[in-house]
Amino acid sequence: MKIVLLGAPGAGKGTQAKKLIEKYGMPQISTGDLLRAAVSAGTSLGKEAKSYMDKGELVPDSVVLGMVGERLKQDDCKKGYILDGFPRNTAQAEALDKMLASLDMSLSGALSVDVPFEDLMKRLTGRRTCKSCGQMYNIYFGPPKKEGACDKCSGDLFQRDDDKEATIKKRLEVYTAQTEPLIGYYKNKGILKSVSGTGSIDEIFNKVCETLGLQ
Ligand code: AP5
Ligand code: MG
Repeated sequence: MKIVLLGAPGAGKGTQAKKLIEKYGMPQISTGDLLRAAVSAGTSLGKEAKSYMDKGELVPDSVVLGMVGERLKQDDCKKGYILDGFPRNTAQAEALDKMLASLDMSLSGALSVDVPFEDLMKRLTGRRTCKSCGQMYNIYFGPPKKEGACDKCSGDLFQRDDDKEATIKKRLEVYTAQTEPLIGYYKNKGILKSVSGTGSIDEIFNKVCETLGLQ
């Protein structure tokens, strides 16, 4: 299964993708995670990307397309994958179509996770992530048992640099202007599915699996 996960910042794309990996073993390709890894490693690509990410703007298409192109060629992508946070605009969606055609692949579907905008600010300002294993928490909706430490591996939890109120507002504007139109893009192709992203994480996961036709 080769799917694109669509949804606003904080809709729960990463949360649901991680559950799909745990249950079905499909690799998650998150351009946000790949970019944050480049920022942490201090590469020149990471330095360039950080200046856009800190402002809540999209990193240039050329940077992101190069990264995704390399990742899709890896062996673990042959059976399927979840694209999380990519594509982000129409140019990236068109480039993905070309890339997949050249690899003799096609998308099984695009799944939009829909959450009302008024719920997103608290999800994002409250998010905490484990430095070691990537497990996500939320200090308002799903806090760790011990403050600042991961329940699963005891790793330190961190807050993303772009989860500040002003940057979140910009990210939501960018989503509305550039990413939301992709819902129409995939609808026109006849492969759009959607689920409500409101409710408990497990309830949403059940709906995601059902909508994608997974057992
Ligand atoms: P990226 O990392 O993709 O961030 P995003 O799209 O803004 O989405 P998030 O990761 O913030 O949200 P999510 O939907 O994954 O939510 P999560 O599951 O974590 O991109 C970051 C930046 O990188 C961009 O701004 C851009 O600069 C750059 N970038 C990335 N991709 C790019 C591309 N293709 N092109 C150009 N630039 C790119 O959940 C959020 C919180 O909510 C967590 O705390 C979680 O525990 C909680 N939560 C989840 N589900 C629920 C629930 N059901 N109820 C209550 N809380 C919940
Ligand atoms: Mg994410």
